[in-house]
Amino acid sequence: MRRLHLTDRHLRVMLWCILLGLQPAFAGILDPFNWARSDRIEVNIPWLPFENETRCYDELGCLNITRSWYHLIHRPFNVFPLPRVVINTRFILYTKKNPTDGQLLNVNVNKTIVKSNFNPKRLTKMIIHGFIDTPLSNWVSEMKDELVKAGDFNVVIVDWAGGSLPLYTQATANTRLVGLEVAHFINTLQKEHGVDPLDVHIIGHSLGAHTAGYAGERIQGLGRITGLDPAEPYFQGMPTHVRLDPTDAQLVDVIHTDGKSIFLLGYGMSQPVGHLDFYPNNGKEQPGCDLTEGPLVPLTLVKQGLEEASRVLVACNHVRAIKLFTESINGKCSYIGHQCPSYQHFLTGKCFHCGHGCAIMGFHADSSPGLITNKNNQSENEVYPSEEHDTIGAKYYLSTGKDLPYCQRHYRVAIQLANPKGAESWVQGFLKVTLLSDRGVIRGMDLTPNNYVKLEHGTTYTIVVTHPMDLGGKVRKVELSWEYDMNVLEPRSLCILWCNDRLYVKSVLVDQMELPSRGKRNVDFSTKLCTPKREFAEIPNRGSASFYDNCGR
Ligand SMILES: *[C@@H]1O[C@H](CO)[C@@H](O)[C@H](O)[C@H]1NC(C)=O
Ligand SMILES: *[C@@H]1O[C@H](CO)[C@@H](O)[C@H](O)[C@H]1NC(C)=O
Ligand SMILES: *[C@@H]1O[C@H](CO)[C@@H](O)[C@H](O)[C@H]1NC(C)=O
Ligand SMILES: *[C@@H]1O[C@H](CO)[C@@H](O)[C@H](O)[C@H]1NC(C)=O
Repeated sequence: MRRLHLTDRHLRVMLWCILLGLQPAFAGILDPFNWARSDRIEVNIPWLPFENETRCYDELGCLNITRSWYHLIHRPFNVFPLPRVVINTRFILYTKKNPTDGQLLNVNVNKTIVKSNFNPKRLTKMIIHGFIDTPLSNWVSEMKDELVKAGDFNVVIVDWAGGSLPLYTQATANTRLVGLEVAHFINTLQKEHGVDPLDVHIIGHSLGAHTAGYAGERIQGLGRITGLDPAEPYFQGMPTHVRLDPTDAQLVDVIHTDGKSIFLLGYGMSQPVGHLDFYPNNGKEQPGCDLTEGPLVPLTLVKQGLEEASRVLVACNHVRAIKLFTESINGKCSYIGHQCPSYQHFLTGKCFHCGHGCAIMGFHADSSPGLITNKNNQSENEVYPSEEHDTIGAKYYLSTGKDLPYCQRHYRVAIQLANPKGAESWVQGFLKVTLLSDRGVIRGMDLTPNNYVKLEHGTTYTIVVTHPMDLGGKVRKVELSWEYDMNVLEPRSLCILWCNDRLYVKSVLVDQMELPSRGKRNVDFSTKLCTPKREFAEIPNRGSASFYDNCGR
């Protein structure tokens, strides 16, 4: 009997039906065919609700809705935000002096600032939550705690829970008003307390990322915005004034973790929208988020309530950006992202060194510009500050673990295959590797994570794998295990009596990914290993061979 699986996808469909079902005429935008062609559709609707209307909000300024806010497919609806008193945006301060009891800041009441622990000379870090979320979410206080621990910051949590529920169209409109509130907050602190906007860093998740963008648009010289999986629906494909974009702050760094199309139920944008756009694990689906793996899904629903379960199930990929960022604040391991044409290229080791352009993902992203090498400058391993146009639109790739610690070391393993007489021209199967260095050992790392591979004798098989262990560069010994794949569906690979199921390996090259800033050359992190006294190793099916770093001796 088949078990009924309540998967991520089912819950997402249910949630979206609830949200979109309350919208008029939603059927039109749920047509993937039109969505795919949407850029070629002429928007020619004679009348759009609210077109050319403006609303003003006292000291905050005005918002308008022009035709540019509409797109037949990407953004079919626009409304004005709910009243200020309903959204009730609040700013709650935490510092090392008050790490757990927040202080409410109201810039219109001077004494709430003066009497608080707010210090205008310190750096300010602001956190903005997203849709159907509140500052009571665990992640908000986890991130706040890490920030307070990391430095003498003013950590300000923006609470707009009054506007984040429940309809998506209304919530997206509300973010515009929250953006005005945040801008007014920072601009007033600048005018009356001497805060330098360059010292302000806004971290926003989902809708909160675009909220930060709206704020940045109205702040002269805002220092930094970190967008954590910026929301896709109503923003992707829209003009820059509608969404987060690189003009919203001096540095806009973005982590994409749920970038599937909304029709495949991804909530995050796939489009690059900052100066540095990171795509961990390709930015679409995160390891450990495949919920069909775990059998306990319905149990979670019963035990912890629908709210908690939907947080985990519906948004695992979408929430991963938060987890990665939070880990990066005080973590010792650097998330090194590499510019590359695609994640597939990255995995086959084609963009392993910083010569292609690299940057640090997460909290320390602002220390990367010095690391970005000038692509056209061939002088070895030197780093130069990049020009902005070099990175805008570029995608930075990296891999992470599926659980804490997410940040892992990247190793590139290149296996040079021999092609002696008697070897089959190709064999297919599974490879595992054990790496030993003076620092320690990594055992049984899978070099064929996506099932078997086809290996052609005489060529080199290269793959990038990750592990939490830092081998410290120099690898002394490698042990390679080989298992031939008896695939009955592909007769050529049936290899019992009449063919040679051995793998012939000449040498193994292991590189460890490093930051060039350590002042060492990449060569230090690259080791070539060979078999002792022989030209190549002959590895039988289910056998293994050892390689040592004494090639040519
Ligand atoms: C809104 O303004 C634009 C530009 O000024 C104009 O072309 C358009 O006709 C106006 N729309 C309405 C409904 O007034
Ligand atoms: C709408 O608001 C934007 C941003 O404040 C402003 O630049 C633009 O001129 C306004 N457009 C109209 C038609 O009022
Ligand atoms: C608020 O307090 C600061 C610091 O004491 C002062 O410089 C500023 O003028 C005050 N602003 C108002 C509007 O009273
Ligand atoms: C590479 O960088 C060095 C150091 O800044 C500079 O002198 C040289 O002209 C650059 N070469 C190219 C081709 O840009």
